[in-house]
Amino acid sequence: MDVSASYFVDVINLQSLLIGLITLLLVRWLITRSKYNYNLPPGPIAFPIIGNIPQMATTTDINLKMKELRKQYGDIFRLKFGSETLVIVCKTEWILEGLVKKGEEFKGRPFWMYVPQRLIQKKGVSFNTGKEWKDLKKFTISTLRDLGMGKKKLEEHIYLETQSLTDAFQSHNGKPFSLKDPLAHFSLSIVYYIIFDERIRFGEPEFQEIVDDLRFFFSSINAFMPENFFPFLRFVLWNSPLEELIKNNKKIRSYIKEKIRQHKETFNADYIRDFIDVYLLTLEKEPNSESLSEENIFQAIVDLIMAGTDTTATVLNWAFVHMAKYPDIQNKCRAEIEKITDLNRPVTMEDKRHMTYVAATLLEVQRIAPVVTLTVPHAATVDTTLGGYDIPKNTIVQFSLMDAHYDPTYWDKPEEFRPERWIGENNELKKNEAYMPFSLGKYCK
Ligand code: HEM
Repeated sequence: MDVSASYFVDVINLQSLLIGLITLLLVRWLITRSKYNYNLPPGPIAFPIIGNIPQMATTTDINLKMKELRKQYGDIFRLKFGSETLVIVCKTEWILEGLVKKGEEFKGRPFWMYVPQRLIQKKGVSFNTGKEWKDLKKFTISTLRDLGMGKKKLEEHIYLETQSLTDAFQSHNGKPFSLKDPLAHFSLSIVYYIIFDERIRFGEPEFQEIVDDLRFFFSSINAFMPENFFPFLRFVLWNSPLEELIKNNKKIRSYIKEKIRQHKETFNADYIRDFIDVYLLTLEKEPNSESLSEENIFQAIVDLIMAGTDTTATVLNWAFVHMAKYPDIQNKCRAEIEKITDLNRPVTMEDKRHMTYVAATLLEVQRIAPVVTLTVPHAATVDTTLGGYDIPKNTIVQFSLMDAHYDPTYWDKPEEFRPERWIGENNELKKNEAYMPFSLGKYCK
Protein backbone atom coordinates (compact mmCIF):
# COMPACT_ATOMS: atom_id res chain seq x y z
CA MET A 1 0.00 0.00 0.00
CA ASP A 2 1.44 3.45 -0.92
CA VAL A 3 1.55 6.38 1.51
CA SER A 4 -1.53 8.20 0.06
CA ALA A 5 -3.69 5.03 0.27
CA SER A 6 -2.68 4.45 3.92
CA TYR A 7 -3.47 8.14 4.65
CA PHE A 8 -6.93 7.64 3.06
CA VAL A 9 -7.66 4.53 5.21
CA ASP A 10 -6.54 6.38 8.36
CA VAL A 11 -8.89 9.29 7.60
CA ILE A 12 -11.81 6.87 6.96
CA ASN A 13 -11.06 5.09 10.26
CA LEU A 14 -10.87 8.38 12.11
CA GLN A 15 -14.14 9.51 10.50
CA SER A 16 -15.95 6.24 11.45
CA LEU A 17 -14.59 6.53 14.97
CA LEU A 18 -15.87 10.08 15.32
CA ILE A 19 -19.28 9.22 13.87
CA GLY A 20 -19.52 6.20 16.19
CA LEU A 21 -18.60 8.33 19.18
CA ILE A 22 -21.10 11.07 18.32
CA THR A 23 -23.88 8.47 17.76
CA LEU A 24 -23.05 6.89 21.11
CA LEU A 25 -23.18 10.23 22.92
CA LEU A 26 -26.44 11.10 21.15
CA VAL A 27 -28.08 7.81 22.15
CA ARG A 28 -26.86 8.24 25.74
CA TRP A 29 -28.17 11.82 25.79
CA LEU A 30 -31.53 10.67 24.43
CA ILE A 31 -31.80 7.93 27.06
CA THR A 32 -30.84 10.30 29.88
CA ARG A 33 -33.17 12.98 28.48
CA SER A 34 -36.07 10.53 28.37
CA LYS A 35 -35.34 9.74 32.05
CA TYR A 36 -35.77 13.43 32.83
CA ASN A 37 -39.34 13.14 31.57
CA TYR A 38 -40.13 10.80 34.44
CA ASN A 39 -41.58 12.23 37.62
CA LEU A 40 -39.03 10.58 39.92
CA PRO A 41 -39.19 10.76 43.73
CA PRO A 42 -37.19 13.64 45.27
CA GLY A 43 -33.71 13.12 46.66
CA PRO A 44 -30.43 14.82 47.51
CA ILE A 45 -28.55 16.72 44.81
CA ALA A 46 -26.50 14.26 42.82
CA PHE A 47 -23.00 15.07 41.49
CA PRO A 48 -22.43 14.51 37.76
CA ILE A 49 -21.43 10.87 36.97
CA ILE A 50 -20.79 9.76 40.59
CA GLY A 51 -24.23 10.83 41.84
CA ASN A 52 -24.74 10.46 45.61
CA ILE A 53 -21.73 8.24 46.21
CA PRO A 54 -19.88 10.84 48.34
CA GLN A 55 -22.89 11.25 50.68
CA MET A 56 -23.41 7.51 51.07
CA ALA A 57 -19.78 6.30 51.12
CA THR A 58 -19.05 8.29 54.29
CA THR A 59 -22.08 6.87 56.12
CA THR A 60 -21.31 4.49 58.94
CA ASP A 61 -24.91 4.01 60.15
CA ILE A 62 -27.20 3.24 57.21
CA ASN A 63 -30.38 3.20 59.35
CA LEU A 64 -29.65 6.64 60.75
CA LYS A 65 -28.87 7.96 57.26
CA MET A 66 -32.20 6.57 55.96
CA LYS A 67 -34.00 8.31 58.83
CA GLU A 68 -32.34 11.65 58.00
CA LEU A 69 -33.11 11.31 54.29
CA ARG A 70 -36.74 10.42 55.00
CA LYS A 71 -37.07 13.50 57.21
CA GLN A 72 -35.61 15.69 54.47
CA TYR A 73 -37.19 14.22 51.31
CA GLY A 74 -40.30 12.39 52.46
CA ASP A 75 -41.68 8.84 52.56
CA ILE A 76 -40.22 7.84 49.21
CA PHE A 77 -36.91 9.22 47.97
CA ARG A 78 -34.23 8.44 45.42
CA LEU A 79 -30.47 8.26 45.32
CA LYS A 80 -28.29 8.29 42.19
CA PHE A 81 -25.21 6.15 41.59
CA GLY A 82 -23.64 6.54 38.16
CA SER A 83 -26.50 5.96 35.72
CA GLU A 84 -28.49 3.93 38.29
CA THR A 85 -31.43 5.22 40.32
CA LEU A 86 -32.12 3.63 43.71
CA VAL A 87 -35.47 4.34 45.37
CA ILE A 88 -36.14 3.84 49.09
CA VAL A 89 -39.75 3.32 50.19
CA CYS A 90 -40.55 4.09 53.85
CA LYS A 91 -44.33 4.48 54.11
CA THR A 92 -46.19 1.29 55.08
CA GLU A 93 -49.01 1.69 52.50
CA TRP A 94 -46.49 2.06 49.69
CA ILE A 95 -44.34 -0.80 51.02
CA LEU A 96 -47.45 -3.03 50.96
CA GLU A 97 -48.33 -1.76 47.51
CA GLY A 98 -44.82 -2.41 46.16
CA LEU A 99 -44.29 -5.82 47.78
CA VAL A 100 -47.81 -7.26 47.53
CA LYS A 101 -50.29 -5.43 45.29
CA LYS A 102 -47.69 -4.62 42.64
CA GLY A 103 -45.44 -7.49 43.72
CA GLU A 104 -44.93 -8.75 40.14
CA GLU A 105 -43.79 -5.28 39.02
CA PHE A 106 -41.13 -5.08 41.74
CA LYS A 107 -40.05 -8.72 41.67
CA GLY A 108 -36.82 -8.21 39.76
CA ARG A 109 -33.33 -8.20 41.21
CA PRO A 110 -30.61 -5.79 40.03
CA PHE A 111 -28.27 -8.67 39.17
CA TRP A 112 -26.22 -6.25 37.04
CA MET A 113 -24.87 -4.53 40.15
CA TYR A 114 -21.22 -5.53 40.39
CA VAL A 115 -21.07 -7.10 43.87
CA PRO A 116 -23.97 -9.57 43.44
CA GLN A 117 -22.85 -10.21 39.87
CA ARG A 118 -19.37 -11.12 41.10
CA LEU A 119 -20.45 -13.16 44.14
CA ILE A 120 -23.74 -14.72 43.00
CA GLN A 121 -23.66 -14.54 39.17
CA LYS A 122 -27.49 -14.45 38.75
CA LYS A 123 -27.66 -18.06 39.89
CA GLY A 124 -29.42 -19.66 42.86
CA VAL A 125 -32.44 -18.22 44.65
CA SER A 126 -31.53 -14.91 46.23
CA PHE A 127 -30.51 -12.92 43.15
CA ASN A 128 -32.26 -14.81 40.38
CA THR A 129 -35.41 -13.71 38.52
CA GLY A 130 -38.22 -15.01 36.29
CA LYS A 131 -38.84 -18.68 35.61
CA GLU A 132 -35.47 -19.87 36.95
CA TRP A 133 -36.11 -18.14 40.29
CA LYS A 134 -39.65 -19.54 40.49
CA ASP A 135 -38.60 -23.13 39.69
CA LEU A 136 -35.60 -23.03 41.96
CA LYS A 137 -37.49 -21.51 44.87
CA LYS A 138 -40.17 -24.20 44.56
CA PHE A 139 -37.46 -26.87 44.43
CA THR A 140 -35.61 -25.43 47.46
CA ILE A 141 -38.73 -25.14 49.60
CA SER A 142 -39.99 -28.62 48.77
CA THR A 143 -36.51 -30.08 49.37
CA LEU A 144 -36.30 -28.38 52.77
CA ARG A 145 -39.75 -29.79 53.62
CA ASP A 146 -38.79 -33.30 52.47
CA LEU A 147 -35.66 -33.09 54.59
CA GLY A 148 -37.73 -32.44 57.67
CA MET A 149 -38.20 -28.67 58.08
CA GLY A 150 -41.02 -28.35 60.58
CA LYS A 151 -41.00 -32.11 61.17
CA LYS A 152 -40.02 -34.35 64.08
CA LYS A 153 -36.59 -35.30 62.67
CA LEU A 154 -35.38 -31.70 62.56
CA GLU A 155 -37.04 -30.88 65.86
CA GLU A 156 -35.02 -33.63 67.55
CA HIS A 157 -31.86 -32.31 65.97
CA ILE A 158 -32.60 -28.76 67.13
CA TYR A 159 -33.06 -30.12 70.64
CA LEU A 160 -29.63 -31.81 70.49
CA GLU A 161 -28.03 -28.56 69.34
CA THR A 162 -29.83 -26.65 72.10
CA GLN A 163 -28.06 -28.93 74.56
CA SER A 164 -24.69 -28.08 72.96
CA LEU A 165 -25.62 -24.40 73.25
CA THR A 166 -26.45 -24.84 76.95
CA ASP A 167 -23.09 -26.62 77.46
CA ALA A 168 -21.33 -23.71 75.73
CA PHE A 169 -23.08 -21.26 78.09
CA GLN A 170 -22.27 -23.34 81.17
CA SER A 171 -18.59 -23.65 80.24
CA HIS A 172 -18.17 -20.03 81.41
CA ASN A 173 -19.08 -21.02 84.99
CA GLY A 174 -21.36 -18.03 85.54
CA LYS A 175 -18.78 -15.47 84.37
CA PRO A 176 -19.82 -12.86 81.73
CA PHE A 177 -19.29 -13.89 78.11
CA SER A 178 -20.40 -12.82 74.64
CA LEU A 179 -23.42 -14.63 73.20
CA LYS A 180 -22.42 -13.83 69.64
CA ASP A 181 -20.28 -16.86 68.82
CA PRO A 182 -22.30 -19.57 70.60
CA LEU A 183 -25.52 -18.32 68.96
CA ALA A 184 -23.84 -18.15 65.53
CA HIS A 185 -22.54 -21.74 65.94
CA PHE A 186 -26.01 -22.82 67.03
CA SER A 187 -27.68 -21.26 63.95
CA LEU A 188 -25.01 -22.68 61.64
CA SER A 189 -25.48 -26.13 63.20
CA ILE A 190 -29.12 -26.29 62.03
CA VAL A 191 -28.47 -25.22 58.42
CA TYR A 192 -25.33 -27.40 58.34
CA TYR A 193 -27.28 -30.47 59.39
CA ILE A 194 -29.92 -29.95 56.68
CA ILE A 195 -27.30 -29.46 53.97
CA PHE A 196 -24.51 -31.86 55.00
CA ASP A 197 -26.23 -34.27 57.44
CA GLU A 198 -23.43 -33.61 59.92
CA ARG A 199 -23.17 -32.04 63.33
CA ILE A 200 -20.72 -29.24 63.91
CA ARG A 201 -18.53 -28.99 66.99
CA PHE A 202 -19.12 -25.64 68.70
CA GLY A 203 -16.08 -23.40 68.75
CA GLU A 204 -13.86 -25.50 66.43
CA PRO A 205 -11.69 -23.37 64.07
CA GLU A 206 -13.29 -24.88 60.91
CA PHE A 207 -16.72 -23.61 61.95
CA GLN A 208 -15.47 -20.43 63.58
CA GLU A 209 -14.00 -19.47 60.20
CA ILE A 210 -17.36 -19.96 58.46
CA VAL A 211 -19.15 -17.95 61.17
CA ASP A 212 -16.56 -15.12 60.98
CA ASP A 213 -16.75 -14.97 57.17
CA LEU A 214 -20.58 -14.83 57.21
CA ARG A 215 -20.52 -12.09 59.82
CA PHE A 216 -18.03 -10.11 57.74
CA PHE A 217 -20.27 -10.55 54.69
CA PHE A 218 -23.35 -9.13 56.42
CA SER A 219 -21.51 -6.30 58.14
CA SER A 220 -19.83 -5.06 54.97
CA ILE A 221 -22.31 -5.61 52.14
CA ASN A 222 -25.06 -3.16 51.18
CA ALA A 223 -26.63 -1.77 48.03
CA PHE A 224 -24.89 1.60 48.45
CA MET A 225 -21.36 0.20 48.16
CA PRO A 226 -19.69 2.41 45.50
CA GLU A 227 -17.99 -0.73 44.11
CA ASN A 228 -21.45 -1.86 42.96
CA PHE A 229 -21.54 0.96 40.41
CA PHE A 230 -17.82 1.59 39.81
CA PRO A 231 -16.09 -1.79 40.26
CA PHE A 232 -12.57 -0.35 39.77
CA LEU A 233 -12.99 1.43 43.12
CA ARG A 234 -12.21 -1.82 44.88
CA PHE A 235 -8.57 -1.22 43.94
CA VAL A 236 -8.71 2.47 44.87
CA LEU A 237 -10.63 2.64 48.18
CA TRP A 238 -8.31 1.70 51.03
CA ASN A 239 -11.15 0.19 53.05
CA SER A 240 -12.94 -1.69 50.25
CA PRO A 241 -14.10 -5.06 51.63
CA LEU A 242 -14.61 -6.50 48.15
CA GLU A 243 -11.33 -8.37 47.69
CA GLU A 244 -11.87 -10.10 51.02
CA LEU A 245 -15.51 -10.88 50.16
CA ILE A 246 -14.42 -12.45 46.87
CA LYS A 247 -11.74 -14.50 48.66
CA ASN A 248 -14.24 -15.70 51.31
CA ASN A 249 -16.78 -16.51 48.61
CA LYS A 250 -14.24 -18.74 46.83
CA LYS A 251 -13.43 -20.40 50.16
CA ILE A 252 -17.04 -21.35 50.98
CA ARG A 253 -17.54 -22.60 47.40
CA SER A 254 -14.55 -24.93 47.56
CA TYR A 255 -15.67 -26.05 51.03
CA ILE A 256 -19.06 -27.10 49.59
CA LYS A 257 -17.42 -28.67 46.52
CA GLU A 258 -15.28 -30.85 48.80
CA LYS A 259 -18.41 -31.93 50.71
CA ILE A 260 -20.07 -32.82 47.38
CA ARG A 261 -17.02 -34.89 46.42
CA GLN A 262 -17.22 -36.78 49.73
CA HIS A 263 -20.98 -37.29 49.31
CA LYS A 264 -20.48 -38.79 45.82
CA GLU A 265 -18.40 -41.59 47.34
CA THR A 266 -21.25 -42.75 49.60
CA PHE A 267 -24.26 -41.61 47.54
CA ASN A 268 -27.23 -43.98 47.47
CA ALA A 269 -30.28 -42.82 45.49
CA ASP A 270 -32.54 -44.93 47.72
CA TYR A 271 -31.35 -43.30 50.90
CA ILE A 272 -31.32 -39.50 50.64
CA ARG A 273 -29.60 -37.96 53.65
CA ASP A 274 -29.46 -34.23 53.01
CA PHE A 275 -29.55 -31.31 50.55
CA ILE A 276 -26.30 -32.41 48.87
CA ASP A 277 -27.80 -35.84 48.14
CA VAL A 278 -30.87 -34.16 46.63
CA TYR A 279 -28.49 -32.07 44.48
CA LEU A 280 -26.72 -35.24 43.24
CA LEU A 281 -30.03 -37.05 42.65
CA THR A 282 -31.49 -34.12 40.68
CA LEU A 283 -28.42 -33.86 38.43
CA GLU A 284 -28.69 -37.60 37.79
CA LYS A 285 -32.44 -37.53 37.07
CA GLU A 286 -32.66 -34.21 35.20
CA PRO A 287 -29.25 -33.63 33.59
CA ASN A 288 -30.63 -31.16 31.05
CA SER A 289 -32.90 -29.02 33.22
CA GLU A 290 -32.19 -25.31 32.76
CA SER A 291 -33.63 -24.15 36.07
CA LEU A 292 -32.31 -27.08 38.11
CA SER A 293 -28.85 -26.86 36.59
CA GLU A 294 -25.71 -27.72 38.54
CA GLU A 295 -24.78 -24.02 38.93
CA ASN A 296 -28.25 -23.04 40.10
CA ILE A 297 -28.63 -25.73 42.77
CA PHE A 298 -25.03 -25.18 43.88
CA GLN A 299 -25.70 -21.46 44.35
CA ALA A 300 -28.97 -22.28 46.18
CA ILE A 301 -26.85 -24.25 48.69
CA VAL A 302 -24.50 -21.27 49.09
CA ASP A 303 -27.60 -19.02 49.51
CA LEU A 304 -29.01 -21.19 52.31
CA ILE A 305 -25.75 -21.09 54.28
CA MET A 306 -25.31 -17.35 53.67
CA ALA A 307 -28.91 -16.31 54.34
CA GLY A 308 -29.76 -18.78 57.08
CA THR A 309 -26.96 -18.40 59.62
CA ASP A 310 -26.24 -14.81 60.66
CA THR A 311 -29.92 -13.80 60.36
CA THR A 312 -31.18 -16.41 62.84
CA ALA A 313 -28.23 -15.79 65.18
CA THR A 314 -28.99 -12.06 65.25
CA VAL A 315 -32.68 -12.66 66.07
CA LEU A 316 -31.62 -14.90 68.96
CA ASN A 317 -29.15 -12.26 70.15
CA TRP A 318 -31.94 -9.68 70.23
CA ALA A 319 -34.21 -12.12 72.08
CA PHE A 320 -31.58 -12.52 74.84
CA VAL A 321 -31.05 -8.74 74.99
CA HIS A 322 -34.77 -8.15 75.53
CA MET A 323 -35.07 -10.94 78.09
CA ALA A 324 -32.21 -9.37 80.06
CA LYS A 325 -33.67 -5.87 79.73
CA TYR A 326 -37.20 -6.89 80.75
CA PRO A 327 -36.96 -9.49 83.56
CA ASP A 328 -40.75 -9.37 84.16
CA ILE A 329 -41.37 -10.48 80.59
CA GLN A 330 -38.68 -13.14 80.95
CA ASN A 331 -40.42 -14.46 84.09
CA LYS A 332 -43.81 -14.58 82.31
CA CYS A 333 -42.23 -16.58 79.44
CA ARG A 334 -40.60 -18.97 81.91
CA ALA A 335 -43.88 -19.42 83.81
CA GLU A 336 -45.71 -20.32 80.60
CA ILE A 337 -43.02 -22.84 79.57
CA GLU A 338 -43.13 -24.34 83.08
CA LYS A 339 -46.91 -24.63 82.98
CA ILE A 340 -46.89 -26.54 79.70
CA THR A 341 -43.82 -28.77 80.17
CA ASP A 342 -43.44 -29.02 83.98
CA LEU A 343 -39.81 -28.37 83.11
CA ASN A 344 -39.29 -32.12 82.75
CA ARG A 345 -39.30 -32.38 78.94
CA PRO A 346 -38.08 -30.32 75.99
CA VAL A 347 -40.35 -27.77 74.33
CA THR A 348 -41.79 -29.08 71.03
CA MET A 349 -43.26 -27.37 67.95
CA GLU A 350 -46.63 -28.76 69.03
CA ASP A 351 -46.38 -26.69 72.23
CA LYS A 352 -46.17 -23.48 70.22
CA ARG A 353 -49.90 -23.01 69.92
CA HIS A 354 -50.32 -23.34 73.69
CA MET A 355 -47.56 -20.85 74.47
CA THR A 356 -49.20 -17.63 73.35
CA TYR A 357 -47.11 -15.37 75.56
CA VAL A 358 -43.78 -16.86 74.41
CA ALA A 359 -44.91 -16.65 70.77
CA ALA A 360 -46.03 -13.02 71.28
CA THR A 361 -42.65 -12.18 72.84
CA LEU A 362 -40.78 -13.62 69.86
CA LEU A 363 -43.01 -11.71 67.43
CA GLU A 364 -42.33 -8.53 69.39
CA VAL A 365 -38.55 -9.12 69.36
CA GLN A 366 -38.63 -9.34 65.56
CA ARG A 367 -40.87 -6.29 65.31
CA ILE A 368 -38.78 -3.99 67.47
CA ALA A 369 -35.42 -5.25 66.19
CA PRO A 370 -35.87 -6.50 62.62
CA VAL A 371 -32.65 -8.11 61.44
CA VAL A 372 -33.15 -7.02 57.85
CA THR A 373 -34.00 -3.33 58.07
CA LEU A 374 -34.03 -2.68 54.31
CA THR A 375 -35.01 -5.49 51.95
CA VAL A 376 -32.49 -7.10 49.64
CA PRO A 377 -32.59 -4.82 46.54
CA HIS A 378 -35.59 -5.40 44.28
CA ALA A 379 -35.81 -4.04 40.70
CA ALA A 380 -38.79 -2.73 38.73
CA THR A 381 -39.57 -5.20 35.94
CA VAL A 382 -41.66 -2.64 34.00
CA ASP A 383 -42.26 1.13 33.99
CA THR A 384 -44.57 1.60 36.96
CA THR A 385 -45.55 4.05 39.75
CA LEU A 386 -45.39 4.15 43.53
CA GLY A 387 -46.43 6.85 46.01
CA GLY A 388 -47.48 9.11 43.13
CA TYR A 389 -44.04 8.97 41.45
CA ASP A 390 -42.80 7.20 38.33
CA ILE A 391 -40.55 4.19 38.82
CA PRO A 392 -38.92 3.40 35.46
CA LYS A 393 -38.09 -0.20 34.53
CA ASN A 394 -34.80 -1.43 36.12
CA THR A 395 -34.92 1.13 38.92
CA ILE A 396 -33.45 -0.45 42.06
CA VAL A 397 -35.97 -0.36 44.90
CA GLN A 398 -35.51 -1.12 48.59
CA PHE A 399 -38.35 -1.25 51.10
CA SER A 400 -37.76 -0.11 54.68
CA LEU A 401 -39.09 -2.95 56.86
CA MET A 402 -37.86 -1.06 59.92
CA ASP A 403 -40.15 1.90 59.12
CA ALA A 404 -43.19 -0.40 58.76
CA HIS A 405 -42.41 -1.87 62.21
CA TYR A 406 -42.33 1.60 63.79
CA ASP A 407 -45.31 3.14 61.98
CA PRO A 408 -47.56 4.72 64.68
CA THR A 409 -50.65 4.32 62.48
CA TYR A 410 -50.23 0.54 62.77
CA TRP A 411 -48.64 0.21 66.22
CA ASP A 412 -49.60 1.89 69.48
CA LYS A 413 -46.40 3.39 70.99
CA PRO A 414 -44.17 1.45 68.59
CA GLU A 415 -40.96 2.26 70.48
CA GLU A 416 -42.19 0.25 73.49
CA PHE A 417 -41.39 -3.46 73.83
CA ARG A 418 -44.80 -4.90 74.64
CA PRO A 419 -45.60 -8.58 73.80
CA GLU A 420 -49.19 -7.98 75.01
CA ARG A 421 -49.92 -5.99 71.85
CA TRP A 422 -50.00 -9.33 70.00
CA ILE A 423 -52.54 -11.03 72.27
CA GLY A 424 -56.29 -10.78 71.62
CA GLU A 425 -59.22 -10.93 74.02
CA ASN A 426 -59.49 -14.71 73.75
CA ASN A 427 -55.77 -15.23 74.23
CA GLU A 428 -55.31 -15.65 70.47
CA LEU A 429 -52.36 -14.19 68.54
CA LYS A 430 -53.32 -11.09 66.60
CA LYS A 431 -52.10 -10.24 63.10
CA ASN A 432 -50.81 -6.89 61.85
CA GLU A 433 -50.24 -6.22 58.16
CA ALA A 434 -47.33 -3.89 58.94
CA TYR A 435 -45.36 -6.83 60.40
CA MET A 436 -42.85 -8.04 57.81
CA PRO A 437 -39.48 -9.18 59.27
CA PHE A 438 -39.18 -11.71 56.41
CA SER A 439 -40.44 -9.14 53.85
CA LEU A 440 -43.55 -9.92 51.76
CA GLY A 441 -44.25 -11.12 48.22
CA LYS A 442 -40.78 -12.23 47.08
CA TYR A 443 -39.85 -13.03 50.61
CA CYS A 444 -37.87 -15.31 52.87
CA LYS A 445 -39.82 -18.57 52.81
C1 HEM B 1 -35.11 -15.08 61.48
C2 HEM B 1 -34.23 -15.19 60.52
C3 HEM B 1 -34.40 -14.63 59.13
C4 HEM B 1 -34.86 -13.39 58.73
C5 HEM B 1 -35.32 -12.25 59.61
C6 HEM B 1 -34.81 -13.38 57.28
C7 HEM B 1 -35.20 -12.30 56.49
C8 HEM B 1 -35.11 -12.25 55.11
C9 HEM B 1 -35.47 -11.11 54.28
C10 HEM B 1 -36.04 -9.79 54.80
C11 HEM B 1 -35.23 -11.44 52.99
C12 HEM B 1 -35.35 -10.52 51.77
C13 HEM B 1 -36.67 -10.62 51.06
C14 HEM B 1 -36.79 -9.55 49.98
O1 HEM B 1 -36.02 -9.55 49.03
O2 HEM B 1 -37.68 -8.69 50.08
C15 HEM B 1 -34.74 -12.82 52.98
C16 HEM B 1 -34.43 -13.54 51.85
C17 HEM B 1 -34.00 -14.85 51.86
N1 HEM B 1 -33.80 -15.66 52.97
FE1 HEM B 1 -34.13 -15.14 54.89
N2 HEM B 1 -34.35 -14.60 56.84
C18 HEM B 1 -34.09 -15.39 57.94
C19 HEM B 1 -33.65 -16.69 57.95
C20 HEM B 1 -33.42 -17.45 56.83
C21 HEM B 1 -33.09 -18.87 56.84
C22 HEM B 1 -32.96 -19.74 58.09
C23 HEM B 1 -32.92 -19.23 55.52
C24 HEM B 1 -32.58 -20.58 54.93
C25 HEM B 1 -32.16 -21.64 55.57
C26 HEM B 1 -33.15 -18.05 54.70
C27 HEM B 1 -33.08 -18.00 53.33
C28 HEM B 1 -33.38 -16.89 52.54
C29 HEM B 1 -33.32 -16.90 51.08
C30 HEM B 1 -32.91 -18.08 50.20
C31 HEM B 1 -33.71 -15.62 50.65
C32 HEM B 1 -33.88 -15.14 49.21
C33 HEM B 1 -35.35 -15.31 48.87
C34 HEM B 1 -35.73 -14.90 47.45
O3 HEM B 1 -35.12 -14.00 46.86
O4 HEM B 1 -36.67 -15.51 46.91
N3 HEM B 1 -33.46 -16.99 55.52
N4 HEM B 1 -34.66 -13.28 54.28
